[in-house]
Amino acid sequence: MRKKQILLILMSLILQISSVLAQNKSKYTAVSLDKKVSGLLKKMTLEEKVGQLNQYNGFWDVTGPKPQEGKAAKKYDDLRKGYVGSMLNVRGVKDVRALQKIAVEETRLGIPLLFGFDVIHGYKTISPIPLAESASWDLEAIKASAAMAAEEAGAVGINWTFAPMVDVGRDARWGRVMEGAGEDPYLGSLIAKARVEGFQGDFSSNKNILACAKHFAGYAFAESGRDYNTVDIGESTLHNIVMPPFKAAVDAGVLSFMNSFNELNGIPATGNAYLQRKILKGDWGFQGFVVSDWGSILEMQLHGYAKDLKQSAEFALNAGSDMDMESYAYVDHLAQLVREGKVKESLVDDAVKRILRTKFLLGLFDDPYKYCDEAHEAATVGKPEFQQTVLDMAKKSIVLLKNNNELLPLKKSGQKIALIGALASDKTSPLGNWRLAADENSAVSVLEGMQAYTENELIFAKGAEVVTEEPKFVFEAKLNTTDKSGFPEAIAAAQKADVVVMVLGEHGLQSGEARSRADITLPGVQQELLEAIYAVNKNVVLVLQNGRPLAIPWADENIPAIVEAWQLGAQSGNAIAQVLYGDYNPSGKLPMTFPRSVGQVPIYYNHKNTGRPYALDPGTVFWSHFIDEKNTPLYPFGYGLSYAKFDYADLKLSAPTLKSNGTIEVSVVVTNSGKVAGKEVVQLYIHDLFASVTRPVLELKGFERIELQPNESKKVTFTIDEKMLEFYSANNKWEAEKGEFKVFVGGNSAQTLQADFQLIN
Ligand code: NOJ
Repeated sequence: MRKKQILLILMSLILQISSVLAQNKSKYTAVSLDKKVSGLLKKMTLEEKVGQLNQYNGFWDVTGPKPQEGKAAKKYDDLRKGYVGSMLNVRGVKDVRALQKIAVEETRLGIPLLFGFDVIHGYKTISPIPLAESASWDLEAIKASAAMAAEEAGAVGINWTFAPMVDVGRDARWGRVMEGAGEDPYLGSLIAKARVEGFQGDFSSNKNILACAKHFAGYAFAESGRDYNTVDIGESTLHNIVMPPFKAAVDAGVLSFMNSFNELNGIPATGNAYLQRKILKGDWGFQGFVVSDWGSILEMQLHGYAKDLKQSAEFALNAGSDMDMESYAYVDHLAQLVREGKVKESLVDDAVKRILRTKFLLGLFDDPYKYCDEAHEAATVGKPEFQQTVLDMAKKSIVLLKNNNELLPLKKSGQKIALIGALASDKTSPLGNWRLAADENSAVSVLEGMQAYTENELIFAKGAEVVTEEPKFVFEAKLNTTDKSGFPEAIAAAQKADVVVMVLGEHGLQSGEARSRADITLPGVQQELLEAIYAVNKNVVLVLQNGRPLAIPWADENIPAIVEAWQLGAQSGNAIAQVLYGDYNPSGKLPMTFPRSVGQVPIYYNHKNTGRPYALDPGTVFWSHFIDEKNTPLYPFGYGLSYAKFDYADLKLSAPTLKSNGTIEVSVVVTNSGKVAGKEVVQLYIHDLFASVTRPVLELKGFERIELQPNESKKVTFTIDEKMLEFYSANNKWEAEKGEFKVFVGGNSAQTLQADFQLIN
C-alpha cells in the first residue's frame, strides 16, 4: 500500500472514532477509550478474547433454524467461564439481569454482555412496518418511531437492536422488502441516518440502544427474489445502489453491522474480506463491530466455500466478521486456529477491541445493569403515549393510489357502508412480521377504527379468509385459502350498501424473512372476491394491507379508489378510518415501484436506458420491451395522491451551467388547486446523460415536504452542487464527471418538469 493511502485510512479511522465519541457526547476521548480497552485486553486469555466474539441465542425465542439440542447446558457453562460476549433473544429485566449477573459476578473479568433483539418496528408497541414508514418521507417521524422503539426495548433489558435493515430492495418477490426503506439509495440513506440516530441517541440513558446496520451486503439482490439466494451484481450496482445507506449509517455513528446470508459474486458475505475489511473497516474507517447473521459462518460450508466449521471460523474472522451468532464456530475453533497460526491473534484482538469499545460507549462498564430497572420496565412497556407516536406515523405512511370521482373521503353520515375482507377485522396482521414481543390481536382493526364513525350504518362480512390457518412466526406460512363459502354473505352486504370498503392484501406473516412469493397478486381468492363485489356495487374503496408492492392491474383499471395501507401497526384501524373519512389528508409517497405483473420484477425507477429504449424503426419489435406487457409500472416510485391537488409550474434554473465548486438553484412553483389543505413531497431528480459508467435515467437527489392551503402557491428551491452529481465511476472512486445533465422536479418520478444544465470546470 502506498504511504498516502495508509495515511488516508489512518485519518479516516481517527475521524470516525472522534465523531462517534462526539455524537455520543462521550466522557471518553479517543485516547482514553483506547487505553481502557487495551488495558482490559491485556488481562484476557485467548479463550476469554474468543468468548467476547461469541453470541448465543437465549433459551426461549428462536429467529432462525432450531438451535442444536442439548446446547443449553454448554451455554450456561460457557457463560460462567466468560466465553460469551453477547446473547440474543433474551428479554425482560428479570432474565437479562440474571444472565448479566453471571457475566459480571461469576466470570474472571466481569465483562458485561450485550443483549440483542430484533426490534424492527417497535418492541411491544408496534409501529408501521419500516417500508410503510418510509412512505412518509418524514425523517423526523421515522426517527421518533425508532426512538420510541429504543425506549421500550431498553426498558426490558435489551441494549442492542438488529436494525435498521438498510438493504436497498428492488424485488417485490423478496419478502424482506417490508423491513427496508424501499428501492432508492438516497432516500434509503436519509432513513438509515434517521433510524440510527433514533435508536442510538447519544447513549446517555437507557432509552438509547445500540443500532445495527444490516445485511452487509447485497442481500436484497437475491436472484428471483428468493430469500437467501445467490447474489451476483457488478461493482457499479454495489457501490452506487447497495452501499450508500450503509455508508450513511456509518456516518451517523452506527456501532454495529450485521453481515448477510448471501454469497456476493462467489464469496459468502460472511467470509468476504473485500466487503468487511477493505470497504467497511478500511475505506470507511468503521470503528464498531460486525456480527454474523444467524449461523451464517456455519453456512459457508453449504455455500461450498469452507470445508468444515473450523475453516468457516478461519475464513470468517480473517474476512472481518467479529462476532459469531449461533454458529458455535468461534467458541469451538478460533483459539485453536490462532495456535495453529491460521488466524493472527492481532486480528482477534482487533475484533475484541471493537466489541469492548462498544460496551464502554454504551455505558455498560459504568453500570452493567443500566437496562435492568424493573420499575422503569413496568412504567415504560406499552406506555399509552407510545400509541400517539404510532398513530402519527401510521397516518403519514398511508398512500392514496387512486381516487376517481372523489369517492373518498367518505361522508361521515347518511351512508350505508359495507366493510368486506378478512383483513378488515384482523387484529394481528396489521402488526406485520417481526413482532415477537407484541401481543397477538393487539392492533386496532379497520372494523374497530370505522366503528368510531357511528353515524353511518356499517355492515361487515369477511367474504373469504386470506390463509387457511394462522401461520406461525418461525414455521412455514400456511396455504392461501380456496374457500369461497363466505362470498354470498359479502355480496349481499355490498348490494345493500352505498359504498363498499374492501380490505384485501397479505396476511401479516406472508412477508418478512423467508416469505418470498413467486406470485405477488392478491393471495387466495381475494381477486375473485373483489370482482364479485364490484359486479354488484361499483362504489368500491380498496384498502390494501400488505408488506410489499403487489401487482393489482385489474383493481387499478376498475376500482375507483385505492388506498395503500401496508401493515400499520398497533393503530392501524384508527389511522385508516381517519384517512377514509378525511380527518387526515394522506400524503405518503411510494418508496418502491408497483409492478403491473410479476414478470416486470425487478422494476425500479432508477433503471438504465439500454441501447434500445424505444423502437428506432416504427413497427419493429427489436427494442427492449415485453410483447405481452408494458414497460411502465402500475404506480411509479414517489407516487401518491392527496385530497388536495398539486400543480407544478415555472421550473427555473438560476444558471445553465454549474461550475466545479459552485452551485446553481432550481426552483418550481407548487400550487394547491384543490379544495382542502394538503401536504406534498416535492421531489428533485437528475440524469447524468453521458458518463464513464452509464447512469440511471433518473436519480432522486432531494425532496421537500410542504403544506399548502387551497389556492396557496409556494416556490420550492433546491441547490445543486457538484457533490450531488458524484457517482462511483470507471476510475473506481466517487466523482462527478463534466458534461450534460437533466434536472426534473415533480410530485413523483414519472410526472416531472425538466430543464438542462452543464457541469463545467
Ligand atoms: C436472521 C435475520 O436475517 C436477521 O436479520 C436477524 O437479525 C437474525 N436472524 C436474528 O434474529
